[in-house]
Amino acid sequence: TQTLHQLAAAKGKYFGSATDNGELSDTAYTAVLGGGEFGQTTPGNSMKWDATEPTRGTFSFTRGDAIVTFAQSHNMTVRGHTLVWHSQLPSWVGSLPAAEVQPAMVNHITQVATHFKGKVFAWDVVNEPFNEDGTFRATPFYNAMGSSYVATALRAARAADPDAKLYVNDYNTDGLGAKSDAMYNLVKQLKADGVPIDGVGFQAHLAIQYGFPSQMQQNLQRFADLGVDVAITELDVRMVLPRDATKDATQATYYSNVVKACVAVTRCVGVTIWDYTDKYSWVPSVFSGQGAALPWDENLQKKPTAYNAIVAALGGT
Ligand code: G3I
Repeated sequence: TQTLHQLAAAKGKYFGSATDNGELSDTAYTAVLGGGEFGQTTPGNSMKWDATEPTRGTFSFTRGDAIVTFAQSHNMTVRGHTLVWHSQLPSWVGSLPAAEVQPAMVNHITQVATHFKGKVFAWDVVNEPFNEDGTFRATPFYNAMGSSYVATALRAARAADPDAKLYVNDYNTDGLGAKSDAMYNLVKQLKADGVPIDGVGFQAHLAIQYGFPSQMQQNLQRFADLGVDVAITELDVRMVLPRDATKDATQATYYSNVVKACVAVTRCVGVTIWDYTDKYSWVPSVFSGQGAALPWDENLQKKPTAYNAIVAALGGT
């Protein structure tokens, strides 16, 4: 039988899982993470601004390096996550005078992308730029520079690491709607302006109680048709606890639909689940009473419904 990544690779794509530093000391966990199911990983926290530049001009790459080392020794590639984001942003950034924000942002991007040059194949350069209605989120970056911060960030990333694929990444843009229209218009404009953008990330943090995103495959395809890659970057499918067979079956359908959408779109480069096991999922701490979002349970056992649905969507048996 083939692993998820082997099945994806046969279609020219990767299948990956996020991870985090604390989990790397859990040997039962790392046995699965590095055991062949996943050909790619994303650090869940350790390349973010608060981890890499907690104080202005003082950089720390130890935790990010540890993820890279694990990945390299287990034949996994790394997506860098994330250079410019309003969350997990040290307070010093938000306290800067407006004129200082651009130089601080460009320096951050330059230092971090230079350090990880050759170690990450892609960067989420800008994460979560939009509000739900498609307006730009009022972050320190937007407030100081307006929407041009996105182009400035992408250009700085390209200058620091010319070989990395540069992405803008967001959630609730998986299907058609106001927020994905805003992302579409942004990417179209960036391409028209000659700004270096290589891909769009669709986080795909889904919940069975909210329904499946509208026309995901068509949505991915319209971005691909702009001339960028697309990727499913943070997939998980949560439910209101407790689990039962009906919810598990719905969850499996969601996993299948997402993977099938990626398989159907030539420029969809791969799928990353936001860790592989409920033991380390972010969901219960943010959505009280919800969870069971991943294809492996909290005891690191595969959930046959979700796992087999992914296998089948990847063309396996
Ligand atoms: O490391 C500290 C630890 O020292 C402390 O004892 C503990 C107590 O609160 O907190 C630990 O930090 C937590 C960190 O995860 C590491 O576990 C933070 O509180 C917690 O807020 C942080 O959550 C992360 C979250 O982003 C923050 O926004 C999740 O792990 C991470 O999975 C999640 O990932 C995001 C993506 O980056 C962007 N898209 C949405 C996705 C889910 O929120």
